[in-house]
Amino acid sequence: MKWYVTKWSSTLLLLFILPNGAFAVEDRSFTESVVIFNTICAKCHEAQCSGRLSFDEALEQSTNHILRHYQPATGKQWLQKELFDILNYMKVKCAYYPINKPVSLKKVWESDVLDEFATLLDRKYFIPVGKLSPGNYQLVLELEKDTKATVHLISEEFDMAVEDCFDSSNGRIDVQFTVEDPGNYYFRMYPREPAKITRLSITKSEIETKH
Ligand code: HEC
Repeated sequence: MKWYVTKWSSTLLLLFILPNGAFAVEDRSFTESVVIFNTICAKCHEAQCSGRLSFDEALEQSTNHILRHYQPATGKQWLQKELFDILNYMKVKCAYYPINKPVSLKKVWESDVLDEFATLLDRKYFIPVGKLSPGNYQLVLELEKDTKATVHLISEEFDMAVEDCFDSSNGRIDVQFTVEDPGNYYFRMYPREPAKITRLSITKSEIETKH
């Protein structure tokens, strides 16, 4: 839908957004774009808090760059624009782009929900897991098949509570971790081979970690 992304409309949108300094979080879900950005683009652009907005010409100039890193965005101007807007949001707000989806209060996710937070082909995951208070936790991942996977648990301040590579056994990865700073956390997984997560849970753990 080319008419949607005319220069005119995006300029108008910027004019609308800029004076109050706020970003319009649209109802239409950005989830797919946020997941792509926070898995694929995050490798270089995470926590890039320059405070400066990039303007529309930068989007035109960076089309090839965006497609080099995420080829499935070819011909999808709306997706390129969303990725660009998410980068701008991070630069200005120094925060992850908000995801307009309720977070599981029980901190248990099944595959129907998990599927929405994965990139289609390589099954990289980025999932907002909500608020965690200080304490010891256990994170359990159930995968449809065994693989090696890099797992991150990141605070909204971009601190890593978990940053490690795990081998699953019987389709399961168990991670013990400690939260020191209360706040919102985000789970990220880069599997070596695409492997669907069928269940993810985070529970307070009884096991004391060494002091
Ligand atoms: C391997 C590292 C790397 C990856 C992965 C990457 N970028 Fe970049 N990107 C850069 C570098 C380096 C620059 C130039 C310096 C800058 O502006 O930060 C850049 C610049 C940009 C710019 C231009 C910003 C401006 O103001 O001119 C945009 C937009 C952009 N990247 C979007 C993306 C998106 C979207 C993705 C994911 C699909 C992505 N990048 C993936 C390294 C990367």
